Amino acid sequence: MKYIVANWKANKTQMEIEDWFKKFNTKYKESNSNNLTNLRIIICPSFISLSLANKLIKNYSLPLLLGAQDVSSVSMGSYTGEVTAQMLKNIADYVIVGHSERRSRFKESDETLTNKVNKAMNEGIKPIYCIQDEKTLIPEGVSLIAYEPIFAIGSGRPDTVENTCNVITYVKQNASKREVLYGGSVTKENVKSYLSSQIIDGALIGKASLDPDNFWEIINAAIN
Ligand code: PGA
Repeated sequence: MKYIVANWKANKTQMEIEDWFKKFNTKYKESNSNNLTNLRIIICPSFISLSLANKLIKNYSLPLLLGAQDVSSVSMGSYTGEVTAQMLKNIADYVIVGHSERRSRFKESDETLTNKVNKAMNEGIKPIYCIQDEKTLIPEGVSLIAYEPIFAIGSGRPDTVENTCNVITYVKQNASKREVLYGGSVTKENVKSYLSSQIIDGALIGKASLDPDNFWEIINAAIN
């Protein structure tokens, strides 16, 4: 089983999301694809679009799961603007925590990120914890990790499969039962080279997941 995670970041209006699912559904239904069972496909839209995405997945009966792109480090209460794990429970199965964009642009510290992980896990939401290299601190209890080197994100310059395998092997050596994905300029052309490796448990995809046709081709590459 391999993971394919779509990180839509701060992209897509509600209308664009409706359009994405409509087009993705057409591709899916045309393909008679019952062979997605070896993939766990997780779509991560913005908070405001999670409910809509949830409704569309159900209406179209698509084999897709939902993830949030962030979660608050605090519980319910007087924290204007925060979205807590309790609010996300029952709508998101996963949450991306520790993405380098949150670390660098929003100054999230290891301590904040550990709190986020704990809040998510307390509500049964599985964190997809992003690390930038093998030295990044990984909070206790995290079992799903995405190796995302900063130089590879959005740059069109992915890490090599060889180096990715080295980093992931190291990360797996330090704790048992870790699944580790690769993220950073994954495309329909290169996704297979990462997924062919036994060591890499999936891909986290930003830009190339935004277009439904392109994303469908990534999925096809992953299953064939
Ligand atoms: P990218 O983004 O696929 O556009 O490089 C990956 C990510 O930041 O998660």
